[in-house]
Amino acid sequence: MTDHAFPDDARAAVHDVIARRRDVRRGFTLDPVDDEVLTRVLAAAHQAPSVGLSQPWDFLLLTDVEQRAHIQALAARQRDAFAASLPSGRTRLFDGIKVEAILQTPLNVVVTCDPTRGGPYTLGRHADPRMAPFSAALAVQNLWLAARAEGLGVGWVSFFDPDELARELGLPGHLEIVAYLCVGHVEQFPPAPELVLSGWARRRPLTWAVHHGAWGDRRLPGGEAVSLLTETVAAIVPADAAAMRAAEERQGQLTKPRGSLGVLEELGTRLAGMYAVCPPPMPEPVAIAVFAGDHGVHAQGVSPWPQEVTTQMVGNFLAGGAVINALGRQVGAEVTVVDVGVAGDVPDAPGLLARKVARGTADMTQGPAMTPEQVQQALEVGIDAARDLVAQGNRLLVTGDMGIANTTASAALTSAFTGLDVEQVTGRGTGIDDAMLAHKVGVIRRALVVNAVDAADPVAALAAVGGLEHAAVAGFLLGSAALRTPVVLDGVIACSAALVARAIAPDAAGYWVAGHRSVEPGASAALDHLGLTPLVDLDLRLGEGSGAALSVPLVQSAARVLREVATFDSAGVTDKA
Ligand SMILES: Cc1cc2nc3c(=O)[nH]c(=O)nc-3n(C[C@H](O)[C@H](O)[C@H](O)COP(=O)(O)O)c2cc1C
Repeated sequence: MTDHAFPDDARAAVHDVIARRRDVRRGFTLDPVDDEVLTRVLAAAHQAPSVGLSQPWDFLLLTDVEQRAHIQALAARQRDAFAASLPSGRTRLFDGIKVEAILQTPLNVVVTCDPTRGGPYTLGRHADPRMAPFSAALAVQNLWLAARAEGLGVGWVSFFDPDELARELGLPGHLEIVAYLCVGHVEQFPPAPELVLSGWARRRPLTWAVHHGAWGDRRLPGGEAVSLLTETVAAIVPADAAAMRAAEERQGQLTKPRGSLGVLEELGTRLAGMYAVCPPPMPEPVAIAVFAGDHGVHAQGVSPWPQEVTTQMVGNFLAGGAVINALGRQVGAEVTVVDVGVAGDVPDAPGLLARKVARGTADMTQGPAMTPEQVQQALEVGIDAARDLVAQGNRLLVTGDMGIANTTASAALTSAFTGLDVEQVTGRGTGIDDAMLAHKVGVIRRALVVNAVDAADPVAALAAVGGLEHAAVAGFLLGSAALRTPVVLDGVIACSAALVARAIAPDAAGYWVAGHRSVEPGASAALDHLGLTPLVDLDLRLGEGSGAALSVPLVQSAARVLREVATFDSAGVTDKA
């Protein structure tokens, strides 16, 4: 500590107010806010730093109830529109979330930004005009913290079309709205963010957010430099044995003959182990992550489909028109598309994670499909995707994939990791004839020999004959396991990636559920090797995550049984003698 540091109690007070500031939407009282207190809070806001000392903010104080009722109606419309856009697995959660307290507070404060204030020579804004609203946002934060110290709750409402709100407020045209705040005394402050308490989202640990030197070297100051993969693997623990024992016992107490729900009972027990609690929470919301990449081995003529179909189908996923979108809607899941290695350009769109590591892999018959750096990056893309989706509140993840020629890479990996002959694990993919199948087997054999693939070094084997989406799925499976979040495996691509992931971290397999049995022979071989029983067997061979999506209601049913079915004791039903 330097001589300039605040005394201990003052420093503690600063950190305390930061930690205990909350966005408040419920529990307000309508007691008026004292003028002196409000002036202190506004003075704190007014001391915020600003670009070129432009002080671009103004504070519009609203108390008139009729005016606020009009504004509340605007927010209600936006809320309805947002609710209508949600996957059904999120709708139920959102129903219980309050997003504004416009009329439940005595005072609303609109913080505006004048982007012209400071003049044309505003120091620092010349290069980046966003600095003006950023400065106004800092005033909001000061206001928020000072209000908390005064015991006042603040709730930020962003459910507005800004132009509509500006018109309703009759604001001069040169002003931008930065924040709409509901301010008042509260019965109590929530102990954690409301969105955490409701299960909508989770806090991200600080370790995920601090990078050293280059983006991606994540660790706390003074922390040891380890790769994201190493850190993730170190965080994976076996599924919780005590929770599984409790679930097994509970299965025996539920009002049904023991074992009568077959595979669902085993699944429910496994879910308890994954979440480390019995009964397990409902596996909801659900997110499907479709990892897309292209394959250099396509040049060897292993698929009748042109490579550009990968890019085109990614466009279809993003437009909501593919099978996985329809099935996702059916089971209430959101679909995220991860471009980890598509050869073509994928235009930005909501739901896209643009994480291209390369424009497809190299041809595995000529050498490794990926460089060591590429495979590492693709694994990290998968880990990060898992982190993002879990932090967004998802409690069940589903793998999906897209990549013309990716069953070739899958068969190569499956042969390498199961020790089975290439012929036994190679299928017809999107539908190839006997001649092309024989050719495909030959291509895979060649790739395994050329690269001297050795499953004892799983990451090197993955780099040699895998795909960028296989690597990302493997990372996704490890990242999810590290966060104790179950993942439903789709078909042959996910199963082959799971073989790699299990070789890297055996305990991770305790968090995976086999969604379905694909007709691709490699999928069954991999599932046998993984010891997983597929939930659905419908002769599917589409990929995209389709089979896994179909099994989501079964996974949820397994949890619901443990959560909701009465026990013999509680229902007063006599157990079998
Ligand atoms: C820019 C911004 C906009 C926000 N908009 C809303 C909103 O429209 N409705 C709402 O209920 N909360 C809103 N919030 C509050 C956040 O949900 C909240 O800050 C977050 O969940 C963390 O909780 P905490 O503030 O209690 O720590 C907003 C917060 C910020 C910073």
